[in-house]
Amino acid sequence: MREHWALDPNITYLNHGTVGAPPRCVLEAQQKLRDEIERQPSHFLLRELAGIRLGADGAKQPRLRAAADEVGRFVGADGKDLVFVDNATSGVNAVLRTFDFREGDEVLILDHAYGAVRNAAEYATRLRGAKVRVVELPESITGPWAVIEAIERAIGPRTRLALIDHITSESALILPVAEIASRCHHRGVAVLVDGAHAPGAIPLDVPSLAVDWYTGNLHKWAYSPRSSAVLWTAPERQATLHHTVISWGLDQGMAQEFDWPGTRDPTPHLAAPAGIAFMCELGVDNVQRYSHELAWNAGREMAARWNSTLLGPEDMIGTMVAVPLPGRLGTTRDDGIRVRDALLFDHGIEVHVYAWKERLRVRVSAQIYNEMADVERLINALSTF
Ligand SMILES: Cc1ncc(COP(=O)(O)O)c(C=O)c1O
Repeated sequence: MREHWALDPNITYLNHGTVGAPPRCVLEAQQKLRDEIERQPSHFLLRELAGIRLGADGAKQPRLRAAADEVGRFVGADGKDLVFVDNATSGVNAVLRTFDFREGDEVLILDHAYGAVRNAAEYATRLRGAKVRVVELPESITGPWAVIEAIERAIGPRTRLALIDHITSESALILPVAEIASRCHHRGVAVLVDGAHAPGAIPLDVPSLAVDWYTGNLHKWAYSPRSSAVLWTAPERQATLHHTVISWGLDQGMAQEFDWPGTRDPTPHLAAPAGIAFMCELGVDNVQRYSHELAWNAGREMAARWNSTLLGPEDMIGTMVAVPLPGRLGTTRDDGIRVRDALLFDHGIEVHVYAWKERLRVRVSAQIYNEMADVERLINALSTF
């Protein structure tokens, strides 16, 4: 499958999950869109794209809305409940910055949460005199119940919002968001899901999770060009949601607010359906099954070689796997950077190596252009350190 990607053939690329890598055919679709825009930039951006600045003629659906419908079908959602954002960080920020926090309120966030997202929660709560409460998950997660119970125990009388990862970043675990949401709602706590790694990586039907907001990147596992992500919002939450950038669409509805946050390049969003079409052509199940099996086998192989343990059971692992590295490689952030750079510059391997919870870890992303030989190359390279 490697020929479908523009990736440097001299590099073993095991880092798909970090910033994604769009297939060539999607980049070509994006270029076609750019060419179309540049023939008549004002017409495209002011009339066709969002149909708000000069007024929609009503005859044609704005291009962004048509793209939202197509992406919606891929994630089980109605396009009208879906808006495009540049990335999951922006999606999380939009919700946190407009959530009606009161003094003393708490937002729950997991110790496995992505650092930038945690910062967004710290900032949004700081502005309103609310605070972030970090839920510590057990060191060894034997199954989804360990996560559900830890979150339930952390809910207090001032908890208003739980910010839950669908697939965690550093530990690469799939969390049981539907069950967590049900427990949170039962206690009057709203749920925002950070699904940065989920669309394309695992089967996804957003409305069935019954959460309040769900944001997910398309540019990681759904083969979209960067920067492309979606934010789904339950109908009853839409009136109070605003884009972090206030523009012409203020108070005209979610689509109007998010479809025009000022002039920008819309091609990553408009090309998202091309990424989905490519995955459908290959067979979404085939792609997900191949990546999952490779991630799982890679994880077991690495753990066996380094005498370490995986962070969760197979049903909590999707297309990425995180494994603790041997202690001799170090424990600090700087050690992680040193190992990561040496892997790239001395061995031609790009992979995420990082310090987390006082251990160095490696997170292998398994995309359909990878195979077990890539993982063997990584293991052999690390044995020379
Ligand atoms: C769980 C999680 N949330 C959010 C993000 C941020 O994604 P982006 O940089 O596309 O906003 C990441 C990035 O890897 C992530 O792993």
